[in-house]
Amino acid sequence: METALDQLLSAALTDLETIPDAKALESARVKYLGKKGSLAALAAGMRDVPADQKKSVGQKLNDVRSAITARLEAARTNLQAAADSHALDGIDSSLPGRTAFTGGLHPLTLILDEAVSVLRRLGFAVAEGPEIETEFHCFDALNTPEDHPARNEKDTFYFETGELLRTHTSSVQIRTMETAEDTPLRIIAPGSAFRRDEIDATHLSSFNQLEGLYVDEKVTLADLKGTLEYFFHCLFGKATEIRFRPHFFPFTEPSYEIDIRLEAKGKQPKWIEIAGCGIVDPAVFEAVCQSRGDHLFDPERVTGFAFGMGLERLAMIRWGISDIRLLIENDIRFLKQFA
Ligand code: DAH
Repeated sequence: METALDQLLSAALTDLETIPDAKALESARVKYLGKKGSLAALAAGMRDVPADQKKSVGQKLNDVRSAITARLEAARTNLQAAADSHALDGIDSSLPGRTAFTGGLHPLTLILDEAVSVLRRLGFAVAEGPEIETEFHCFDALNTPEDHPARNEKDTFYFETGELLRTHTSSVQIRTMETAEDTPLRIIAPGSAFRRDEIDATHLSSFNQLEGLYVDEKVTLADLKGTLEYFFHCLFGKATEIRFRPHFFPFTEPSYEIDIRLEAKGKQPKWIEIAGCGIVDPAVFEAVCQSRGDHLFDPERVTGFAFGMGLERLAMIRWGISDIRLLIENDIRFLKQFA
């Protein structure tokens, strides 16, 4: 019996040295350790072993089983390692990996986030208004008379109801003053505006504006200048030159256009118009008082400043984008540069 066990062990060990694949491994396991395998057959002979040898023969039987089991395990590990290394054939694992493309924010979103965060620091809260507006909120309350060109059918998208796609975000000034509970009031209103414009390198018929309004007792032109100078310095750098050029808007008096001086490399520096602003016209406060039916915005008590600018223009200046249409074409080659 012991000799038979020794023979079995050495045969099994030799056999297991050259296992080519998983299938051969499984049949070797069945052959030696299976219920009807060689070891089981020998174990059946235990009953013929004399009593005084049963213990040592039994021990040997167990040792042989363990040795074969261990060898089978080792063969399994070797096969797996070989398969793994085969899987890497032809792959140079020292090459840098490919980064997953994670996408990024659109330049308009980037500039908006930045603008809003600067103005929030100064105490302005974000306000909203509808894109389909009444003529009252878009024009009349903003002291814009019937014959003003902004109201022209040719420049504006009217509905049959008399409502229109707002031509500017200034309507949000009126909306927020109508519902304000108290002063001071400091709001910014980012959002879409619409005009019947021919689309070209600097015009879109649907674009974005950022409106601002500050109302309190004794708001002055100095507050307006300080706020907007700080704002543009945050956006374009402290060295950026800014000028306030007298202008006309129906809803502010005095009114200004703000220009910034652009110094692109290799080009003649030039002033570019970037925003409109001014001191809120008392006629606007009067319209709000009438609409509210109270005196919270009595022009004898409060003054204010307002400003409005195009977000596309801000982005174009910030990143030197030469054609506004790039901002709506969703060309990945363009957008990637901001991701
Ligand atoms: N609403 C003006 C426009 O669309 C921009 C503007 C100018 C807004 C002066 C203002 C302002 O609030 O005070 O061209």
